[in-house]
Amino acid sequence: MEHNDDIEKIIDAQDLTLPPPEREPQRQYYFIKKCREFIKRKSEESGRRLTASVVTFGCQMNARDSEKLAGILECIGYLVTDSEESDLVIYNTCTVRDNANQRVYGRLGVLHGLKKKNPHMKIALCGCMMQEESVIEKLQKSYRFIDLIFGTHNIFKFAELLCTMFESERTVIDIWKDTDQIVEDLPVERKYPFKSGINIMYGCNNFCSYCIVPYVRGRERSRNPEDILREIKALAADGVVEIMLLGQNVNSYGKNLENPMSFASLLREAEKIEGIERIRFMTSHPKDLSDDLIAVMKESRKICRHLHLPLQSGSTRILQAMNRRYTKEQYLALAEKIRTEIPDIAITTDIIVGFPGETMEDIEETIDVVKKVQFDNAFTFIYSKRTGTPAASMPGQVPEEVVKEGFDKLLKTVQDTARSRVLRWRGQTMPVLVEERNLQDDALLTGRLSNNTIVHFPGDASLIGQIVNVRLKECHGFYYMGETVEL
Ligand code: SAH
Ligand code: SF4
Ligand code: F3S
Repeated sequence: MEHNDDIEKIIDAQDLTLPPPEREPQRQYYFIKKCREFIKRKSEESGRRLTASVVTFGCQMNARDSEKLAGILECIGYLVTDSEESDLVIYNTCTVRDNANQRVYGRLGVLHGLKKKNPHMKIALCGCMMQEESVIEKLQKSYRFIDLIFGTHNIFKFAELLCTMFESERTVIDIWKDTDQIVEDLPVERKYPFKSGINIMYGCNNFCSYCIVPYVRGRERSRNPEDILREIKALAADGVVEIMLLGQNVNSYGKNLENPMSFASLLREAEKIEGIERIRFMTSHPKDLSDDLIAVMKESRKICRHLHLPLQSGSTRILQAMNRRYTKEQYLALAEKIRTEIPDIAITTDIIVGFPGETMEDIEETIDVVKKVQFDNAFTFIYSKRTGTPAASMPGQVPEEVVKEGFDKLLKTVQDTARSRVLRWRGQTMPVLVEERNLQDDALLTGRLSNNTIVHFPGDASLIGQIVNVRLKECHGFYYMGETVEL
């Protein structure tokens, strides 16, 4: 973590001769210590350190959950690696579109093969897909080699569930329907030392008619600002320079707190924390984006020049059926206001094609919005029917072949716009947070501009985690090649 050292002392102090504490997170500290003894014994038996790997299938929030899982695994003594040829593999699943589910089933087949070679191997599944009854039924019937299954609401119990798994011969399954708990202060293992996501809220209350997230993540719950700010301070003390505040709809942050607080005020507080250089957030729902938020972004030195503002559709008729609660005109007006107030901002979006009842005319409306707003980037998805959502039982489900034409046309517009937008920065010198060595070319580093554009440039790995000035020389479609500049 964050304050892993303090947690270490509390874990050490646990007395395993007593029954486990009732309260959280103390209860988990007890089970962490218990797991440690088990892993130590197993490592001694096999004469090597046991390995574990966590695979993320979903969004940034899932990725953050995976860091929490990895934190527990490290803390109990596993060596956490990227290889699925490990003693424990956990899949943190996503179910937002059916292809995410299919990927999990496909890769489980491969894991089964690995388990046949290493009979001591443990396989665990968690995340959004596990909150669906039909998935659990299928796993119980056809995937009996899985050792542990749990959901999104009880992820904080990971250490306890591992203990149960170690002691059990059968598949351990623990799924909660919902929760109002927020358990803090468990170990976290960050993927990057210099940047980190932070949950500011969990769940979603919007019930967009196509979306399964509210069913698998439960009702919206905001964390207390004190806890969030304390976490950010600890991250800064630990060398983090860029934070990303995470929630399904950050613009409604704080509305249900005992002392309500707006997202804009939270940002103002986060901005004051020394050591943090860049602040990002995900995701903004257009219906809740306030003028105050635009004002904070405009004034801020630290908030990045990037706003992800999912459109979903440009047709007011479809937006209404989607239960998005804004019209085409309202979205356009909002985008226009943001572009006027903060001219150097990059606006990106998500779009769904093939929603029930959607016609080519509706898609033309969407294309019209793409042209007018000039999105800097857009993720386009083909509508995926999610059982249990209102849209799944709407008339006019469109077959995928029919969707293809509209999808391709939209994609082309989106790519043309994005390409011309990114060209705007050519020749400029801008600060880049260096993230990693280039995956293809060892002599290059890869980093990101404040507006989220990727830049590759020659440099030494010692720069990773630092913000350096880079002149943007050549634009290659969506990214830049550059060179560092001393100012
Ligand atoms: N909370 C975020 C979105 C989270 S899901 C928001 O409201 O903006 C990320 C994206 O997946 C969504 O923006 C949407 O474009 C897409 N998506 C969600 N459900 C989908 C479905 N059933 N079919 C296709 N795409 C979907
Ligand atoms: Fe899904 Fe809508 Fe909630 Fe986003 S805001 S998670 S799309 S229901
Ligand atoms: Fe997927 Fe769950 Fe995120 S369904 S998109 S991992 S909240």
